[in-house]
Amino acid sequence: MSKRVLLIIGGGIAAYKSLELIRRLKERGLAVRVVMTEAAQRFVTTLAAGALVGEPVFTDLFDQAHEFDVGHIRLARECDLIIVAPATADLMAKRANGLANDLASAVLLATDKPVLMAPAMNPHMWSNAATRRNFATLQADGIRLIGPNAGEMAERGESGVGRMAEPEEIRDTAIAFLSDGPLKGKRALVTAGPTIEAIDPVRFLSNRSSGKQGYAIAAALAELGADVTLVSGPTNLAAPAGVTRVNVESARDMLEASEAALPLDVAVMVAAVADWRPTQEAQTKIKKDAAGIPAIALQENPDILATLSKPGKKRPKLVVGFAAETDHVEEHARAKIAKKGCDWIVANDVSGDVMGGAENAVILISKDKSEAWPRMAKEAVARKLAAEIAKSLGAKAPRK
Ligand code: C5P
Repeated sequence: MSKRVLLIIGGGIAAYKSLELIRRLKERGLAVRVVMTEAAQRFVTTLAAGALVGEPVFTDLFDQAHEFDVGHIRLARECDLIIVAPATADLMAKRANGLANDLASAVLLATDKPVLMAPAMNPHMWSNAATRRNFATLQADGIRLIGPNAGEMAERGESGVGRMAEPEEIRDTAIAFLSDGPLKGKRALVTAGPTIEAIDPVRFLSNRSSGKQGYAIAAALAELGADVTLVSGPTNLAAPAGVTRVNVESARDMLEASEAALPLDVAVMVAAVADWRPTQEAQTKIKKDAAGIPAIALQENPDILATLSKPGKKRPKLVVGFAAETDHVEEHARAKIAKKGCDWIVANDVSGDVMGGAENAVILISKDKSEAWPRMAKEAVARKLAAEIAKSLGAKAPRK
């Protein structure tokens, strides 16, 4: 039987893109049912959405005909996934606070199915402290969020973060979510890219990590059905389909975002975290001619891998670190497992052109074994590692 999606359309200008989303979902053989809020009906008609899904759209919590026939409880349960697109600030707030005064919010409260929200709103509404709080609550409640993206707003001349994710992105995320892969239902964290550590508002310390290997691992885990959070330092890469990306800059931000992703089944720390940061971050740009050449004192950054590896109730079942070595690769990697408390180390010899390159030759090392893999594309390393992770978490063998 085809998988069923309940699409809740909220009241925002991005609602017109939800009509496109219906088509994109149906194209992939998904059965789609639609709920529209009252505000959504100001932007697109129930007739248009109904024509695209091929059945009437649900709008009213107190509609006798529908309540006796389908009803909000059945709407909430008779699907495999609920998508809220656009998720307005109002709908996010209602769900975060448990309000249920219309059909959309009642369905969101009554459901036991996974929920994927695609927020869309004005950038000021998005950055408002109330929306930030609601966003954090929704994440903590296990709701998946995709976007919003940066770009032009509907309001003339405004731009910023607030545009709804594109219909294809939402569809791909939904399909990854609905996949029956061996990591379905498992929560994964991947850190990737460099961190940047501010010296003053315009200068920073960083490194040359491209983020490629980490992004490929996030994509490979998502392909196997995992619910993946990718905590990424600044890179030029697009977020892989089906992955929730959290953008960070400093090591401290990366640690905070990583801890916010708990509880986890697996954490794969691929980021090239800056070892040190300036002891002080100047609040204004340091003047060139002020007092000669400044001395930048450094202090150690928190170790994210070691922090997540600490024994305790919240420790992910499997913690994987990376080690870039130039000599005595295996010996150093084993020492790192002991020092950081992680389960596996993926060690690579970076004496060649691995940093920023397309290929990687790694050794997978655990406490009791080690396995050297031939040199291969970073995507292939990622898929092989994801398969090993699935095996270790007791999942069935990945489909070919
Ligand atoms: O100690 P070293 O930097 O060689 O360890 C590399 C591993 O530790 C990588 O998995 C990296 O992502 C992780 N790491 C971390 N936080 C740090 C330093 C490294 O998570 N501050």
